[in-house]
Amino acid sequence: MAKETFYITTPIYYPSAKLHIGHTYCSVAADVMARYKRMRGYDVMFLAGTDEHGVNIEQRAKAAGVSPKDFVDSIVCDEGGILDLWKLMNISYDRFIRTTDDYHAESAQKIFRTLYEKGDIYKGTYKGLYCTPCESFWTESQLDDGNCPDCGREVKNAEEDAYFFRQSKYADKIMQKIADYLEPSSRVNEMMNNFLKPGLEDICVSRTSIKWGIPVDFDPEHVMYVWVDALSNYITALGYGNDKYNDFDKYWPCDVHFIGKEIVRFHSILWQGMLMALEVPLPKKVFGHGWLIFDGEKMSKSRGNVVDPVVLAERYSVDALRFFLLREYTFGQDGNFTNDVLLNRINSDLANDIGNLVSRTVSMVEKYFGGTLPTDRASGPEDSELIAMAENLHKVYESNMEKFAFQDALSEIFKVTSRANKYIDETMPWVLAKDEANKPRLTAVLYNLLEVLRICTVLLTPVMPDSCEKILGFIGAADDARSFDSTVSFGTLSATVTVSKGEILFPRLDIKKELEALSGENSALPCKEEL
Ligand code: ME8
Ligand code: MG
Repeated sequence: MAKETFYITTPIYYPSAKLHIGHTYCSVAADVMARYKRMRGYDVMFLAGTDEHGVNIEQRAKAAGVSPKDFVDSIVCDEGGILDLWKLMNISYDRFIRTTDDYHAESAQKIFRTLYEKGDIYKGTYKGLYCTPCESFWTESQLDDGNCPDCGREVKNAEEDAYFFRQSKYADKIMQKIADYLEPSSRVNEMMNNFLKPGLEDICVSRTSIKWGIPVDFDPEHVMYVWVDALSNYITALGYGNDKYNDFDKYWPCDVHFIGKEIVRFHSILWQGMLMALEVPLPKKVFGHGWLIFDGEKMSKSRGNVVDPVVLAERYSVDALRFFLLREYTFGQDGNFTNDVLLNRINSDLANDIGNLVSRTVSMVEKYFGGTLPTDRASGPEDSELIAMAENLHKVYESNMEKFAFQDALSEIFKVTSRANKYIDETMPWVLAKDEANKPRLTAVLYNLLEVLRICTVLLTPVMPDSCEKILGFIGAADDARSFDSTVSFGTLSATVTVSKGEILFPRLDIKKELEALSGENSALPCKEEL
């Protein structure tokens, strides 16, 4: 039987400057979900990419004195660019789309033309307040003291020919469906109250002032609005409207689009309207996650207050950073990033809790049994609670993962590792080891600890793939003891398991020293264009 499919996407980021820890956050979350679903036996399509057109990129390229294509190529492909960042962060995407790829442009044009032929895109007149130096139209509410919000200069009434998407036609249907696909539910109310209930207007979907975009093929003075171009990526990357790929029927509708909360509007309204107009089924979920806040402000390329994930990953390991991002923050809410929070989280969960449990357990198996457990085991009164927690873990983990509640899934795992550390204190293996008669009890205690570690580590694998593979090696887990299914029952490790002590994966950090080292290096790095 064909495997069930799971299609997950991240936003396609603008290659306008180096990406920062906020983008890394979303891509890590999507990667964890993709790895989790693969572990559950799904046929996963994990799509990543870059959104390479638009006025912003055009201007930055001009400022850098290069062509827009050379500009985005350097940010995406050069050493230290976006592709390298995802490689470093172990982002296991299956496909990477660039909106400058020929097949995408061709499909996006087809989509635009189809909507035009259907009458859902029509030619009209765009009227607005125009800032000549910025070549931008603004609405009244966007103005800053009556002036251009970008440059502060005067705006004037202007109009131009433009194409419009008949979004208004789909407003009722979007209102009926939005609560089915948009999460968290707080975002549904926001969209309803701010945009849908006040009445959805048609949206301008072409520009003549911009050259760096996909031309409207039947009226090449116009280029497509960058959001129409960008949103289409989620289907063109599967082969919709092109022959490059052939997976649309297999993977669409999308299981989930992960996006940040500031682009929920585009994904929950414009994108849905476009799909309705194309008569393509809607995605099953759009999940709008929160922002990482830095010094009270959203970290952003344009503000220049960005934290460089490469510095942190190289200093504390990729897995520690991946873990921190998902363990520390509730996926649907904003969270404050500080180096202090990062360092404390690494110490408390990774160094003191699981790291300590691994090294204590493995050391004891080596010290008392030369690395291989004997078969004779005697259970004791301390066992049942720990074993019950470990056996139940996969259920609570699964229910949280299915809701994208990464923080809760992880905190459930760490309840079990903490309980296991306490079990060591209760059973006192070093006391048991003094009397030969206690060997079967000591064996059982160590076996139980290894089993608990195994179950926890298998479930942590999507978050910390490399470290977990190492830990599973240290505790002697055979292949059949590394699957999700093997976490359902306690006792999968071989009775005569052999452990091997490896390196300390998460050394305890001297927080004061680290804070000093990071303050020179990492805080508020200027973004590329300001260097
Ligand atoms: O919006 N905290 O691209 P973009 C958390 N090209 N997440 C953050 C973040 C922060 N401080 N800063 C950025 C675009 N992100 C469009 C998308 S999709 C068809 C087109 C993440 O480069 C978050 O996921 O501005 C946000 O939505 C995304 O990066 C925006 O990236
Ligand atoms: Mg943005």
